[in-house]
Amino acid sequence: MGLRRLFKKEKQERRILRQIVRTGDNLQPEYHRATPECPHPERWSMFDSMTAEMEVLEFLRTLVTTIKPELIVETGTFSGVSTIWLAEGLKANGRGRIVSCEFDPLIYANAKERIEKSAVAEWIELRNQSSMDMKIEGTIDLFFSDSDLPIREQEVRRYLPQINPFGIILMHDASSHLKTVREAALKLEREGLISVLLLPTPRGLVVAQKREGRK
Ligand SMILES: C[S@@+](CC[C@H](N)C(=O)[O-])C[C@H]1O[C@@H](n2cnc3c(N)ncnc32)[C@H](O)[C@@H]1O
Repeated sequence: MGLRRLFKKEKQERRILRQIVRTGDNLQPEYHRATPECPHPERWSMFDSMTAEMEVLEFLRTLVTTIKPELIVETGTFSGVSTIWLAEGLKANGRGRIVSCEFDPLIYANAKERIEKSAVAEWIELRNQSSMDMKIEGTIDLFFSDSDLPIREQEVRRYLPQINPFGIILMHDASSHLKTVREAALKLEREGLISVLLLPTPRGLVVAQKREGRK
């Protein structure tokens, strides 16, 4: 990624973060554009355009209580909201842990503060690191790829050997409008690496499973 693009992206994330710090979390109708697969995005809710849609947050928490992962890895913490919802699922299960990484030091510091004040801090390990450098010990039961769109494909490739074949891979922002992640997931499927479901949410969510080793 070019430096100019990286800077522009950081600025957008930091701008949204400043707004959150100023006004708090405010639920509003989702305003990402309609797509053929999701023609009424306004029926969904969101806190801001970086944090996953409210309904997706609910899905994340329920997925955790449904499959009871021992280890969740999330790329892209932003303000820590999805991390906290995933951790709420772990707390309800009474077991497991989540490792989440955020490479922007300012955004990381803000998320750390939010997580420390939450009721689920003990379930979360937050790392100020790039997803492409982070080292994870053990088998990943739930992998949530939610960092920068162009690196999601590389992330899945990088962590795939460590992902439990019975586990779940989620890739956010996979709508037909946002394209990049959708195309990456379909490419990984064509290569026989994963099997993919495309959930028709406003920003799109890939629910996938590793193909190799499935029994
Ligand atoms: C879409 S936001 C994450 C939203 C969050 N998961 C939620 O739903 O509450 C993406 C975040 O990923 C961070 N990011 C982008 N590329 C990254 C990378 N390679 N490693 C770690 N963090 C990254 C950005 O700074 C940004 O805060």
